[in-house]
Amino acid sequence: DTVSDFIRGLPKAELHLHIEGSLEPEQMFEFARRNRIALPFPSVEAVRAAYAFSNLQDFLDIYYQGADVLRTEADFHDLAMAYFRRVAADGARHVELFFDPQTHTARGIPFAVAADGLLSGMAEAERSLGVSSRLILCFLRHLSEEDAFATLKTAELYLDRIVGVGLDSSELGHPPAKFEGVFRAAGERGLKRVAHAGEEGPPDYVWEALDRLHVDRIDHGNRSLEDSALVKRLAAEGMTLTVCPLSNLKLCVVGDMAQHPLKRMLQLGLRATVNSDDPAYFGGYLAANWQAAATAVGLTREDLLTLARNSFTGSFLEPDAIARHL
Ligand code: HPA
Ligand code: ZN
Repeated sequence: DTVSDFIRGLPKAELHLHIEGSLEPEQMFEFARRNRIALPFPSVEAVRAAYAFSNLQDFLDIYYQGADVLRTEADFHDLAMAYFRRVAADGARHVELFFDPQTHTARGIPFAVAADGLLSGMAEAERSLGVSSRLILCFLRHLSEEDAFATLKTAELYLDRIVGVGLDSSELGHPPAKFEGVFRAAGERGLKRVAHAGEEGPPDYVWEALDRLHVDRIDHGNRSLEDSALVKRLAAEGMTLTVCPLSNLKLCVVGDMAQHPLKRMLQLGLRATVNSDDPAYFGGYLAANWQAAATAVGLTREDLLTLARNSFTGSFLEPDAIARHL
């Protein structure tokens, strides 16, 4: 229809995408076959049937299990390229992708295998699809800050090819302040800083991400709306929120899409963006997220244009590159 054509035709950026979360069940079987790994599922259909989550942790358990088929540099390269082909068809011009190195190093896959594979996929996507991208190293917040420091050290030789650090995994019980030191160290190395906050965690976690981690963006941020002083602060600072509608629905952050806070965020003057988070697990890539939200909460053409503009102004591209996209 015309709304979906308009969305696809709109140049936009994706700022919240976990590349491990783009692993489709078909590709999981392909990687398992070529790496001679036995999967605990009999079929693609059985994998898809397991994708029924009632909270973040339910999802994370199966997401970390799925990532076990990623073994070689070629796996990471192919994973990235499959994602870029889909998101290019959705009208994306730029992507800032997260990866979780600790998920890989913990099972004996060297940091360089994941990073080199992803970086070569990113370079190929820029050449062949015209989609630019940047890489963000995420620390797993259920692990210790010491482990995060070790990961930053392992990444030392790659920091010229990594735009920033992020914070993901189990939010409740792992407040941003736990990572204050390693985020300070990342800032001293010239890295941008982002953190998942306010997805399941309280508004206090969003305050902490701002005041103690000095983040440049908040990932999700939904629960910020419970705190009017926080909303004022986010609006005044023009802080970008990377919102993920289908993720919010599948992880029961919202009860149904009609209740999604995206429209309210825009009305409150918050710099919201629309993103896919883990598209293979949550049932849709970038355009599907835009479409689902637009239909359910009644986004106008003007709202869609604002969201597209926000996706570039909230990006970590250089100012002249941002200007060329606006
Ligand atoms: N939240 C926290 N951690 C994650 C997510 C998410 O939505 N996706 C992948 N890791
Ligand atoms: Zn996420």
